[in-house]
Amino acid sequence: MPDPDVLSASGVRFARHQTPETLRDLRRVVDAVFPDDESRLIGMEIGAYRALVLEAQTELNAKDFVRRLCQEVRDDIVEVIGEDRFYIQTNLYLRAARPESGGSPEAIGWHRETFYGPNMERSVNIWTPVRGVSERNTLRFIPKSQSIPEAEIRTVSVADEVTEKGSVGNRIGFLYSPKVIQSGVDLDNSQPMRVPEGRSALFPGLLIHGAGHNLDSRIRFSVDFRILPFSAYASTSKPYHLASGKPYFELF
Ligand SMILES: [Fe+2]
Repeated sequence: MPDPDVLSASGVRFARHQTPETLRDLRRVVDAVFPDDESRLIGMEIGAYRALVLEAQTELNAKDFVRRLCQEVRDDIVEVIGEDRFYIQTNLYLRAARPESGGSPEAIGWHRETFYGPNMERSVNIWTPVRGVSERNTLRFIPKSQSIPEAEIRTVSVADEVTEKGSVGNRIGFLYSPKVIQSGVDLDNSQPMRVPEGRSALFPGLLIHGAGHNLDSRIRFSVDFRILPFSAYASTSKPYHLASGKPYFELF
């Protein structure tokens, strides 16, 4: 049984991992690539830094961390989607947002998953803090925004200044043509995603989230990926994953 105190009408659920091992191993991979003394990383040129993030992300995917994380929180996933079978994103994203005092923001803007892929209405995001996540740099979300009809949200696409299609930045999850919300969502009404130790956040792909601006002094490391209920998968879903060339989703 899930703890009632972690179930929230806001749309976010904090799933307790069945074992500490996956989180521990995840942290080890990140620690091996990113030393604890972050001063050199924080000052690093953006291209070199993104290449390092991709290196760590590639290793995490080679080690099957999407499956391992799903295994840890499987019961919560099944309860949230109301189905025993589901598809998982073949590649997770490693987010490694540096403090913004050092330069340009390394946070993804406000969005819901339908902005960036077909058939994402019933997707569920799994977001796991790895290192350095605090109240001052964590992902933010708009409570209950999953119920805002798509037609009420107006967006405009802008070209990103540094991320090109197919680039290293694009492969670690930065958007080359992000959509910016113009109206339909009260973006002043955001909350920080405070994920308790030993847990992952599960939330609907329709929940407006993003804006994890790093106002702290440490790099924020987290991983995330999407899942799709078996009944929501369609052959027209995102056909392949840019970072790997593999299909975007596979059966868990
Ligand atoms: Fe997202």
